[in-house]
Amino acid sequence: MKTNITQNISSKQNSKLHLQVNHPVEIIKKRIYKVFGSLFHKFENLSEVVNVTNNFDLLLIPQNHPSRKPTDTYYVDENTVLRTHTSAHQVELLRQGYEQFLVVGDCYRRDEIDSTHYPVFHQMEGVKIFKNTDELTVKNDLVETITTIIELLFPNAPYKLVDSYFPFTTPSYEVEVFWNNKWIEVLGCGLIHPDVMKNAGRENEQAWAFGLGLERLAMILFKIPDIRLFWSTDERFLNQFISGEIIEFKPYSKFPECYKDIAFWINEDYNYNDFCELVRDTGKDLVENVSLIDTFKHPKTGLTSHCYRVCYRSNERNLTNKEVNEMFFELQTLTSNNLHVKLRV
Ligand code: PHE
Repeated sequence: MKTNITQNISSKQNSKLHLQVNHPVEIIKKRIYKVFGSLFHKFENLSEVVNVTNNFDLLLIPQNHPSRKPTDTYYVDENTVLRTHTSAHQVELLRQGYEQFLVVGDCYRRDEIDSTHYPVFHQMEGVKIFKNTDELTVKNDLVETITTIIELLFPNAPYKLVDSYFPFTTPSYEVEVFWNNKWIEVLGCGLIHPDVMKNAGRENEQAWAFGLGLERLAMILFKIPDIRLFWSTDERFLNQFISGEIIEFKPYSKFPECYKDIAFWINEDYNYNDFCELVRDTGKDLVENVSLIDTFKHPKTGLTSHCYRVCYRSNERNLTNKEVNEMFFELQTLTSNNLHVKLRV
């Protein structure tokens, strides 16, 4: 199997934003750490390259689950992926005998392109083991822990636990917080599934687990409008956070956008994430958004065409026509050659 990790993605491996002092991702991480005493081991440097077994199999993720597909996940080779979540370390650490731990790290998913999606993002996982106890005790401790996190991050905001589903926890919940006049989802959690505990060789124990996205929380709490900003090295961004506090981000001037439309006849193998990957690889962080603006089915041939609008905009500077044209030309060429679709011109 050929890897689907692009040059754009590999250039971001090892960036470790969660270790960069006073980066918003690091500030949120530290804030949540305050909830957990020294009994919790903190793992911040586990490799993002994990095997399929740990990322999916041992967590009971079904063989045919869409998240396993190379359209959704970056594969190093057939048996190795860039972790799609920090849950990939649950079984490994439980097997090593850890009883209470937090894992923070970069995770990778192929996805669409807009202000809240970026192929690299950071998660925090929490796990705590219990011996000789009943489910209710474990659940109560989970709720208490989650409540402390939520009250620390969102003081005085209403929140609720909503039933949810993850293959590796049962029961499973999502926590929603009422913030800026709407309910937002902030984390997933639950009691670790007995079969996962068995996979970890700890069938006689029980445990809770939670997982949360650090960029997502940081975007909400700092009011950061575009997920690409986390990757900015511009001092107008980074210097706003040197106090290490959660403060409101002050946007600096917005630079002009440049739209380019591309239309092509799709085929059976066509996948939207594959197209987005080419947009990212050719446009890097200069791409702000991709949207499908038109779908057309030819009455005679039965072929379907998609028209996408790609929005190029830098958060740091003006783009020149020349560079946008070059990126877009490269996108057209790669779309035609790599996706085997016919461009409409
Ligand atoms: N790994 C899940 C996700 O990425 C979150 C999660 C972690 C859910 C732990 C339950 C328990 O969406």
